[in-house]
Amino acid sequence: MSTDKSFYITTPIYYVNGDPHMGHAYTTIACDVMARFKRLDGFDVHFLTGTDEHGIKVMQAARDAGVEPQAFTDKVAASFQAILPALNISNDDFIRTTEARHKKGAQVLWEKMLAAGDIYKSSYSGWYAVRDEAYYDETETEMRDGKRIAIASGAECTWMEEESYFFKLSAWGDRLLDYYAKNPDFIQPESRKNEVMSFVKQGLKDISISRTTFDWGIKVPGDEKHVMYVWVDALANYITELGYGQDDDAMFKKFWPANVHVVGKEIIRFHCVYWPAFLWSAGLEAPKKVYAHGWWTAEGQKMSKSLGNVITPADLLARYGVDGTRYALLRDVPFGNDGDFNHELVTNRINNDLANGFGNLAQRTLSMIAKNCEAKVPQPGAFTDADQALLKAAQETLLTDMRNHMANMGFSFALSAFIDVVNQANGYVDAQAPWKLKKEDPARMATVLYVLAETIRCLAIAVQPFVPDSAAKMLGQLAIATDARDFAHLNAANALKPGTALPEPQGVFPRLEATPAAA
Ligand code: ME8
Ligand code: MG
Repeated sequence: MSTDKSFYITTPIYYVNGDPHMGHAYTTIACDVMARFKRLDGFDVHFLTGTDEHGIKVMQAARDAGVEPQAFTDKVAASFQAILPALNISNDDFIRTTEARHKKGAQVLWEKMLAAGDIYKSSYSGWYAVRDEAYYDETETEMRDGKRIAIASGAECTWMEEESYFFKLSAWGDRLLDYYAKNPDFIQPESRKNEVMSFVKQGLKDISISRTTFDWGIKVPGDEKHVMYVWVDALANYITELGYGQDDDAMFKKFWPANVHVVGKEIIRFHCVYWPAFLWSAGLEAPKKVYAHGWWTAEGQKMSKSLGNVITPADLLARYGVDGTRYALLRDVPFGNDGDFNHELVTNRINNDLANGFGNLAQRTLSMIAKNCEAKVPQPGAFTDADQALLKAAQETLLTDMRNHMANMGFSFALSAFIDVVNQANGYVDAQAPWKLKKEDPARMATVLYVLAETIRCLAIAVQPFVPDSAAKMLGQLAIATDARDFAHLNAANALKPGTALPEPQGVFPRLEATPAAA
């Protein structure tokens, strides 16, 4: 059983039919921020990402590239792994569905579902969309330009007829509805919950879970003519990586059920309907939460290879740096909503919040301390109401607010709470005008600079999950030891010690050039 202090978070495992784009980076960064937040808050975190390497879609991509599927997936999986350090992702493991540990665990899951009487052999005929790796009812499709199209995704469907194993999904409808009712936070955000519930209420049909027309997949135990349907294979990653069905399943015992599977909104049915049913069939617990975020478009258009407007993680890194990229993706669009990526808005946002906002606050405070306080944390006198108001906002309210927002994956709201305190502090600097106090009242100047430095300490600790490198530089400039940077230190009891020597201040958040005109 997972405990109150363990926290298991996952990204989807990404198809290796093409190189990573910003949508993949988005989900992974969001999970990373959450994982870091929980670690700083004292949780024992396990954070998993990986690649989904089987199925016809990947097999066809390998064929198009003229390479054997394994060699092809090795290469593309490596490109997914390469973006992780570049984006400063703190994942604890990376699972590939072509790994032996995964195949073993997925086969054990199959055997359990079979033993439970939930798998039977029959024959399948119906519409299949390779792009979605999904089966559709005829009513979920329509004809467009002489082609059969899945209405929800726009993917082309082909008619399939073959011998197949089926999973008795029809048997699990009531239990699913009961689970949604008893666990109101299971599907987030709320709007997605209604979509899933109405799908289940319509009545569930059994689903085809094996294929015989190709062999790029995990073999069905005892019937090797069949490979598992790629979604049975893929969903299993969340438990196989923990050692489920293998010799050492201590991690499984510790971290399952997952606290949250973070996914894009297009794959919610697989995670909220199929996955709990598979797990219950095998005698396992369902995950605690599935959070479905929205989709990014680029400058108003869907990103696609044919339009040539795909934004890659490398594009973002080249322009905004790692922390700028992480900040831009989470700052404005509430998690769960769709968002449009616009370079001009992002550039302005980073400049306003980070360069002019937090960066400038730190720069002016620390350079005044360097010049006027012998480069040491100043000794404050008695605090005024204005001092106390700012200290309370930084030492108490900030973390409380951020925790509340993060409990619902409210990244953008957590960052608003952070920026509110930055703005409050910049207002305080202007009102107190410490540069004037230098001659008039040096003791008061010391107090004001102390309050500001302590506010910056709190802000930097709180923002670490979002911009880890920059926050670390900021904390370094305040001479905060690396073991004094977690949330247990974000309070008055651990405030800056007057007299502590500080290193020479340096700018942390560079100003970005205005967006170059479109070519
Ligand atoms: O669906 N905006 O893999 P996939 C936001 N292998 N997020 C986006 C996005 C966009 N434009 N494009 C992609 C699969 N994503 C399966 C998952 S899990 C057991 C198996 C993100 O390569 C988002 O998280 O198609 C989406 O759900 C995921 O990439 C889909 O990746
Ligand atoms: Mg997809």
